[in-house]
Amino acid sequence: MPIPIIFDTDPGVDDAMALLLALASPELAVLGVTTVFGNSQDLALLTRNALALCALGDRPEVPVAAGTAHPLTRTYTGRANLVHGDNALGGVQLPEPVQRPDTRFGPQFIVDMCRERRGQVTLVAVGPLTNLALALRIDPKLPTYVPRVAIMGGSARAGGNITPAAEFNIYADPEAARLVFNAGWEIIMAGLDVTCSPRVAEPYFERLAKRGNRCGQFLASASQHYLQYYHGQGYAGVCMHDVHAVMALIRPELYRSERVYIDVETAGELTRGQTVVDWRGRLGKAAQTTLLLGADETAFLNLFAERIGTLP
Ligand code: RIB
Ligand code: CA
Repeated sequence: MPIPIIFDTDPGVDDAMALLLALASPELAVLGVTTVFGNSQDLALLTRNALALCALGDRPEVPVAAGTAHPLTRTYTGRANLVHGDNALGGVQLPEPVQRPDTRFGPQFIVDMCRERRGQVTLVAVGPLTNLALALRIDPKLPTYVPRVAIMGGSARAGGNITPAAEFNIYADPEAARLVFNAGWEIIMAGLDVTCSPRVAEPYFERLAKRGNRCGQFLASASQHYLQYYHGQGYAGVCMHDVHAVMALIRPELYRSERVYIDVETAGELTRGQTVVDWRGRLGKAAQTTLLLGADETAFLNLFAERIGTLP
């Protein structure tokens, strides 16, 4: 039986990769998509991107609900357009989607869908965790009928990519992340310890484009801006960050992981947004996180290309 998921995202180039993989994978049933600020502050743009991506994958029936454009407590001063481009899809223009967004607020959509499928749905969050935190505010009992959350976010031993201590998705809303990590559900964390394994360069995206399908060609085009950013930072290739949160659900055996308790720093001057791993159990709290620490890079790349190749 496929795993029902709700995909919470700030699409984003690597978000697009992850969403198309989810749509192409028979191991998953994408019940819906919710959008959150992050790779852009323009939520209407991100919601349009999500609708356009579902249409690109020939899945216009997948509902898309707009979530929040702001963190729980502080103003957001993101500059992710440097990474993902002004339209958050590397400047590649997709056809205007025919579908309209679901009329519900994203967090309410999450609660409604999970109440209908009690105990079955995995939330997959690849942006700031604000929508999940707001869903917990709507129904604090959410974790009693949502057993598992898979996230792209955080960092255990790999340092930060937005500050020395914090990864972008967590840093964008540490208060939300702390609520999510302490809600009582199981967490699979694809953080920076694994999401840059592999680093991927032009030849791989050329391989995706060569298949000749529109989804492969779109990802190859959208990745050009993403590649330029990483090259400008001195890296030979890009990190397919968000893909790992999906790949870990469809092929968990590709990953090396440890079970740990993780909490989130919200007050530290230098460490706000850090995912703090209690490696030695000092806090006496039960481990709630499967922390991904390594990936079979060849298998990851081959399966991703294979699955994208099955799309239109
Ligand atoms: O730090 C990487 C994360 O920030 C990814 O989710 C990427 O899409 C950006 O949102
Ligand atoms: Ca993202």
